[in-house]
Amino acid sequence: MSKQNESNEVATSVERTPAALDQTSTAQQAPVLIARHGPISLMRLNRPKQLNALNDALMDCLGEALLEADKDPAVMVIIITGSDKAFAAGADIDAMKHYDFVDVYKNEYISRNWETIRKVRKPVIAAVAGFALGGGCELAMMCDMVFAADNAKFGQPEIKLAVIPGAGGTQRLTRLAGKAKAMDMVLTGKMIGAEQALADGLISRVYPLADLMPQTLSVANDMAKLSLPSLMAAKESINRAFEVPLSEGLLFERRNFHALFGTADQKEGMQAFLEKRSPSFTHR
Ligand code: CAA
Repeated sequence: MSKQNESNEVATSVERTPAALDQTSTAQQAPVLIARHGPISLMRLNRPKQLNALNDALMDCLGEALLEADKDPAVMVIIITGSDKAFAAGADIDAMKHYDFVDVYKNEYISRNWETIRKVRKPVIAAVAGFALGGGCELAMMCDMVFAADNAKFGQPEIKLAVIPGAGGTQRLTRLAGKAKAMDMVLTGKMIGAEQALADGLISRVYPLADLMPQTLSVANDMAKLSLPSLMAAKESINRAFEVPLSEGLLFERRNFHALFGTADQKEGMQAFLEKRSPSFTHR
């Protein structure tokens, strides 16, 4: 990412620091920096000293920012990213080390604030450079699309801490990569590189590190020119495939497909194609 963009992010995050942050936090201390790039909300995890280890303050802040962007009519696509060295190196081990069962059970550790992203109806892209380990890998897998830099490393090393993945790793990784590869990663804690993650179905694109953000923003900008109801219906329909049998999933898809014929954007999209011009969508 260019220096100019980085300074935009800091400047914007001063104005748009989510309320979950302590009032006295400066932008540099904010666990998530939020910048607007036209119709795109860019959320940068920002605990560089801890390789963006995910703690409550960060997850609360990210959750609040996600919900805010989802309801902001000017935002079409959300990108979550980290630094060149780490997307996120997992749940914060320092914060977790003293927890006992009653602490995590009573406080609904993970369930309480890690999966706000599942409520987001707009597309969310993870742009991953460096380490995406444990909860970091799980956060990436919660996103709708994952693009990675060629230095990215994915892994579920929790087994080395005598625990197991707790933010969906055993479930989402298995659905994405299959039992053999999920078992191999989770039971050994090994890391895989970006090309392997691409081959295994965890991610859909790999870019040279310097190109990751420009390319991700470019894809997001292209998506922002599409019709929001159709983007939302497509995302909702694909996610349904993970929840229901094929017959129900097909019915759900068909209903969404039929429903989109009730939008002005469907008329505009098809008319524009026939008139050989770019469509002008109103998201209605
Ligand atoms: N939690 C807290 N702090 C972390 C951290 C984490 N998950 N990962 C890294 N850090 C801290 C380190 O403690 C270190 O801090 P100090 O400078 O104060 O010593 C700093 O970040 C830099 O880390 P390293 O010196 O270790 O950097 P490295 O380049 O040598 O190694 C690494 C990088 C391979 C990612 C290594 O830091 C590492 O293995 N991190 C832990 C990864 C991990 O086990 N993640 C799973 C956590 S459990 C989980 O996520 C549960 C769940 O499913 C929700």
